[in-house]
Amino acid sequence: MADAIQHDILIIGGGGAGLRAAIAVAENDPDLSVALVSKVYPMRSHTVAAEGGAAGVVKDNDSFAAHCSDTISGADWLADQDAVEVFVAEAPGELTQLEHWGCPWSREPSGHVAVRPFGGMEQERTWFAADKTGFHMLHALYQTSLKYEGRIRFYDEWFATKLLVEDGRCQGVVAIELRTGLMHTLAARAVIMCTGGAGRIFAFTTNGAIKTGDGMALAYRAGVPLKDMEFVQYHPTGLPGTGILITEAARSEGGILVNKHGDRYLKDYDLGSPLDVTDPRHPQKRAMELGPRDRLSQAFVKEHEKGNTIDSPFGDVVHLDIRHLSAKKIRLKLPFVRELAMNYAGIDPIREPIPVRPVVHYMMGGIHTDIHGATPLPGLFAAGECACVSINGANRLGSNSLTELLVFGARAGASAAAFAREHETVHIAALDTQADDERRRIREEFLTKDGGTERLAALRSELFNAMEQGAGIYRTEESLRQTYRTVESLHERYRNLQIDDHSNCYNTELTAALELRNMLDVAEALLHSALERKESRGSHQRTDHPARDDSKYLKHTLAYRRDDGPPRIKYQDVVITKWPPGKRVYGAEASEAATGC
Ligand code: FUM
Repeated sequence: MADAIQHDILIIGGGGAGLRAAIAVAENDPDLSVALVSKVYPMRSHTVAAEGGAAGVVKDNDSFAAHCSDTISGADWLADQDAVEVFVAEAPGELTQLEHWGCPWSREPSGHVAVRPFGGMEQERTWFAADKTGFHMLHALYQTSLKYEGRIRFYDEWFATKLLVEDGRCQGVVAIELRTGLMHTLAARAVIMCTGGAGRIFAFTTNGAIKTGDGMALAYRAGVPLKDMEFVQYHPTGLPGTGILITEAARSEGGILVNKHGDRYLKDYDLGSPLDVTDPRHPQKRAMELGPRDRLSQAFVKEHEKGNTIDSPFGDVVHLDIRHLSAKKIRLKLPFVRELAMNYAGIDPIREPIPVRPVVHYMMGGIHTDIHGATPLPGLFAAGECACVSINGANRLGSNSLTELLVFGARAGASAAAFAREHETVHIAALDTQADDERRRIREEFLTKDGGTERLAALRSELFNAMEQGAGIYRTEESLRQTYRTVESLHERYRNLQIDDHSNCYNTELTAALELRNMLDVAEALLHSALERKESRGSHQRTDHPARDDSKYLKHTLAYRRDDGPPRIKYQDVVITKWPPGKRVYGAEASEAATGC
């Protein structure tokens, strides 16, 4: 057994939120030592895959009130408005700061930062770096974090399996060093979870294979509630087959969606009319293709039911047409869209429309935190997609999440540092005892076990398919119950799992087995939260309860794990400051609606 490793602050996850949190600590508290533990090399974190941009008010015709109002109505009023106000106010500073750290934001010919309108936005406020924004942001953050050599220690390719809780506070993790198979005790005065989302519990997703809900599951098993897990975002434009994202930027630049009759079908779904604009290269904001993602994905399902979608070898699609934007603009503003369409759909969007369909993209829910990133478990903080602050409510607006990981990554870093300063001790001996139990468990359940009859790939694909069938864009009590029964039986069968690789060095079969358990736990919380929310709101559409019900459900769901049965569900009021719940209005009416702050 290796000696326990000690730092002041542990950050689990090396994507945008984790790096931003690490920099926040290193910049402000030079005396605190930070460990950044990531199951992949940080530049391989999923932030790298983000394409379209990051939202923050920058133009004179925009305002904080408008950004708040768009975010809150987009969230179907389930976002906490105090959190949204903080987010909106701190966004421009974070984005400017990132430029100073090297992020090459695209520019107008005048030299001003260029911004796009994203779905559900009243004004252009999405900063971008062509259509490779996540890559550039992650690069800027990573290179900045490297400046703090000595203060930030990187544990790349270490996989955390358990939170260590002692004296009622989180004081570390157990993590497997993948290169050697050694299971280490990492002790700290505060821990920040920044492990990203869990889109991989579904069959068809834009999410990279690493997004298996690890941090959510670790917190859930340590007694921390998962909040609003029923809200799963489908992005309306994924490539069939692979689920690769075709960024919303393609629509914000003027791309249109058409069905098999060449009809811009969104006009039939209360999202405005194509006749409201004269030049499709300048789309109307908060309307049609620039409506919110939940509504566009739901419209696809309805078109499918009407028989208006197009058959493809990978399921039905509609067409995203950007040909009218011109080859020059596509090459300049959407080079990655073109590259992806050519490589993964075999078409050149300069000449042909792109086949697309809705695809699981983002979890609005996550580890319950306050606006400082603190969870109810002292010493544990969370930020980024694995956390739920909540600014995204029932439906996130495109491009808010990249900014969210900056704003709340920095806040979580600062709060964890303050906590660490006030809590000197860690109880190494007690932590080691817990860590020994965890090492024994992993050895017995996986590395020395023989005779199990269940296979990883089979359990995993049953999970994916059940989630897609029962907990997708539209759900019912029956579909959710059926899927929950499947997940329950998968949990049971998981006990009988057999892995073949018993070696130490890069045992990816072991990692995948541990990830599967995380996915099953996250799925359980999601399904129960969805079953209990008997209304339709944002991305949670119950065909058996089709209306929004503010009298009962203007509340956050909190799912608490239990050892012996489904999670206990509790509710917490949504924070309303200045925007009383109203009707979501898109299309021509939207521009008439007042925002008022
Ligand atoms: O379409 C996109 O570029 C996705 C952006 C986001 O999820 O924020």
